[in-house]
Amino acid sequence: MAAKLEGRKIDDHSETSSLDVERVRAEFPILSREVHGKPLVYLDSAASAQRPQSVIDAVSGFYSRYNANVHRGVHQLSVEASEAFEQSRSTVRRHLNAESDREIVFTRGTTEAVNLVAQSFLRPKIQPGDEILITHMEHHSNIVPWQLLCEQTGAVLKVAPINRRGELLVDELEALINERTRLIGIVHVSNALGTVNPVAEVCRIAREHGVATLVDGAQATPHVDVDVQALGCDFYCLSAHKMYGPTGVGVLYGREALLEAMPPWQGGGEMITRVSFDETTYNDLPHKFEAGTPNIAGVIGMGEAFRFIQRTGIEAIARHEAQLLAYATERMEAIDGLTIIGTAEQKGPVVSFTLEGAHPNDIGTIVDHFGVAIRTGHHCAMPVMQFFEVPATARISFGVYNTTDEIDVFLDALGKAREMLA
Ligand code: ALA
Repeated sequence: MAAKLEGRKIDDHSETSSLDVERVRAEFPILSREVHGKPLVYLDSAASAQRPQSVIDAVSGFYSRYNANVHRGVHQLSVEASEAFEQSRSTVRRHLNAESDREIVFTRGTTEAVNLVAQSFLRPKIQPGDEILITHMEHHSNIVPWQLLCEQTGAVLKVAPINRRGELLVDELEALINERTRLIGIVHVSNALGTVNPVAEVCRIAREHGVATLVDGAQATPHVDVDVQALGCDFYCLSAHKMYGPTGVGVLYGREALLEAMPPWQGGGEMITRVSFDETTYNDLPHKFEAGTPNIAGVIGMGEAFRFIQRTGIEAIARHEAQLLAYATERMEAIDGLTIIGTAEQKGPVVSFTLEGAHPNDIGTIVDHFGVAIRTGHHCAMPVMQFFEVPATARISFGVYNTTDEIDVFLDALGKAREMLA
């Protein structure tokens, strides 16, 4: 599509980024399909990104060439599977700049990672009246696990406010910290608003107050360079499927000293060193937190997804997506009756919006008939909807493979939806 953009003043952003979007698109087989007789325009990567052929091949290569359980067998297939599985861990560790592979725990995704920290890190030490501090823009996965913990322990959930642009009020967050605050949970990039939070600053503030931090990085890792040591967080959670990897697999990064001191989260095979009816001893990190046969194909596919991002270049990806965001925002701001929800100065590639006289679900259904996939609803962030006093929004979100031409197709479809709904 880059060639088609030549000569179009506003459209030739991809030429100024070092990303060859046409070459990238060719890696994603699904992008050549049609939907309702129209070329697919996939603008729902924040819900789940598409997968490049290399990730698909890594998953199917595991099943077709060396499918076996990991860490258990002496036979060749198990050795190969275990090596590929652990190579993924090292790839993730290097990408996140964690100090050691022991700090990389494989989970089912961000949601499970947050629940693990709630139940294994915080529950043993939290007292009635202790506080957990989150922000008003959290995804349900960084709200409900803490609410469950509060119900179980008598702890109290506190919420740091945001402004009308959808930006965190950092001073007010700091003012909410007191001697009862045990953990701050903060989203790195908001899925509903696009806001990029000043996570390093919040982690620094938390450290000054002796408070632990958990960062929900589900929407950040596909778009920005994440260095857990530079961020200074205690825990960082991510999901592979947001970053071109398989579903049902993700990562909990935790500082080794904290993980070491935590009890296991689930019991079963793999997480033990010795079991008897009298006493069981637990495996070393990170296996202590990986009970049962893991999602081996998923982990191997996730490793390949990280490698895809590395060879494409996270800076080129970020630049390309920033250009898409600027292009879409400029055009959408010019549409009468359209309100963008989430106008933070630092934004990821997400545009949530409402359109006067049109329910977001109707917009989503109509643009789908033009081949355009967008998400509508509360985006698993109902408190954000309540803050902006809207029941739902429509949302377009970009991945590395999107183009300004696709944004034009969406805008045309949106115009048609508006005519039909008028
Ligand atoms: N939380 C995902 C989204 O933003 C599913 O769409």
